[in-house]
Amino acid sequence: MSNKRVGLLTGGGDCPGLNAVIRGITKSAINQYGWEVIGFYDGFEGLIEGRFTRLTYEMVSGILTQGGTILGTSNKANPFGHIVKENGNIKKVDVSDQCMELYHDLGLDALICVGGDGTMTIAGKLAEKGAKIVGVPKTIDNDLMGTDVTFGFNTAFTTATEAIDKIHTTAQSHHRVMLVEVMGRNAGWLALESGLAGGGDVILIPELPYQIDEVVRAIRRRHTRWGKRFSIIVVSEGARPAGGKQVYQRIVEDSPDPIRLGGISHIVAQQIEQAMDVETRVTILGHLQRGGSPTPLDRLLATQFALKAMELVVEGKFNQMVALHGNRITSVPVKTVMGKQRLVPPDHPLIKVALSVGTSFGVPMDEG
Ligand code: F6P
Repeated sequence: MSNKRVGLLTGGGDCPGLNAVIRGITKSAINQYGWEVIGFYDGFEGLIEGRFTRLTYEMVSGILTQGGTILGTSNKANPFGHIVKENGNIKKVDVSDQCMELYHDLGLDALICVGGDGTMTIAGKLAEKGAKIVGVPKTIDNDLMGTDVTFGFNTAFTTATEAIDKIHTTAQSHHRVMLVEVMGRNAGWLALESGLAGGGDVILIPELPYQIDEVVRAIRRRHTRWGKRFSIIVVSEGARPAGGKQVYQRIVEDSPDPIRLGGISHIVAQQIEQAMDVETRVTILGHLQRGGSPTPLDRLLATQFALKAMELVVEGKFNQMVALHGNRITSVPVKTVMGKQRLVPPDHPLIKVALSVGTSFGVPMDEG
């Protein structure tokens, strides 16, 4: 039994597979390496406030299939801009030195940070202060640089596709245009992939600002050319019209990334009804895309990422983020992913595939 200790936290918005990572890290730390795991509660909040626990084998047993995170998470906590409310005013304070003190007091040999771009950016800054960091990429948005895919995405993609399938039958029965709005922030991966898998007739993503005339044209074309009186439109929450703006659902002032997108599909629906004689309905999938049991693929990816993270820690390869390149589990320097977003390139093969089967992106490049 070594007396080595690794810290572990899950930061940012939750997603299916976080518990699989916590389990993988803890079991391999205890079984394979004889290390101790200190889990911080609620992401960086636990590091700031000194709230943590020693993770035991029993605590992580049976959590592989559970959504969420047994450690809790926060998409607001930031040691470099800790929000303090004073007389109703919000003040940001740098408490990173205090976090580093706790890191050293606990005798941590490394800190594994599981999260998205916000978490990796904070982790990278803690690394500059001397923390030995390993990152594990999660997010349903799949928008993290340096890895082909993040865990959590496959589950959200599956949930969104199942929802589109269900909307399909009711759209067909009522001859309606049904809009399904999915999450994804500024990246259209979730809309593109679930839209394609669910047979969406129109897919609107942030990377390809749409023209409403083109959307209407695509719906009309389905009717005149194929006799289809219903259409499914999959809308990314970050979609915006050409020359227009994204729709903000709310501003979360005490969050490092305060913009919460959502609601664009209501505007698109209204514009379609104004342009043509068809009934439209909107379904916003929201947070149910972040919940539920991880798919088998996400369980596998999360467990592989967990084992790779522990391997990096034990081998002393720090300031790296675990990554998937093709079929290979590897790692990239955390600093290469900090503050970046992986967006859908307009020439992505899946866009070509979608266009070939007649799907419209609401832009003039559409076929037909
Ligand atoms: O990043 C994950 C995500 O679910 C985004 O798709 C969405 O825009 C955002 O988080 C929602 O954040 P919140 O949970 O704060 O509403």
